[in-house]
Amino acid sequence: MSIAHTPLIDIQKIVYTYPQQKKDEVDGLASSAVLREVDLRVMQGEYVVLLGHNGSGKSTLARHCNALLLPDSGRVLIDGQDSRDVAKQRRIRESVGMIFQNPDNQIIATVVEDDIAWALTVRGLAVDIIRERVATVMEARIAASIARRVRPDDYAGHSFAGRSGLSRTCSNYGAGQDNSGWAT
Ligand SMILES: Nc1ncnc2c1ncn2[C@@H]1O[C@H](COP(=O)(O)OP(=O)(O)O)[C@@H](O)[C@H]1O
Ligand SMILES: [Mg+2]
Repeated sequence: MSIAHTPLIDIQKIVYTYPQQKKDEVDGLASSAVLREVDLRVMQGEYVVLLGHNGSGKSTLARHCNALLLPDSGRVLIDGQDSRDVAKQRRIRESVGMIFQNPDNQIIATVVEDDIAWALTVRGLAVDIIRERVATVMEARIAASIARRVRPDDYAGHSFAGRSGLSRTCSNYGAGQDNSGWAT
């Protein structure tokens, strides 16, 4: 449930160090900490672009938004739910979609239409709901005639795998109306 003034993403002073780099910790803050007291708030309806050099921690921050990583300190609240609360993690992952840096690694099915439907199928949604959501995002994002016959990695250029991943993410999250997505 979203209350208008509850941020969808509320990152409060998070610190994170990858486990293998924790050995050089000094005074509780590893010199190799990737995230150092980072704050970020994203409200419903906002579009946020995070820019930075390679290795500056953008993907690490994104992984905190659907509890793929948990902060060493500080808090991540997704629609008010703390990512450290194991009981809330499933709900958080249903709210925050993620498209990884190399979309080719995220292709699941042999044609785009099935690829978009995959996450909904795994979640056990009714077939008619799956059909409706898949049709909605295909019309919105991909020419349906192409989606029904082309392999996700066959489309000219490399962007189609990304668009397929984006469409899958949108279909999984109610066509993206009220949810968050990260492309890393
Ligand atoms: N799985 C990992 N294990 C250890 N270190 C990592 C891992 N992923 C990223 N890093 C390190 O964390 C830092 C931030 O990386 P990353 O979040 O991928 O940056 P960006 O997305 O901005 O390019 C880099 O120094 C990178 O080498
Ligand atoms: Mg990255």
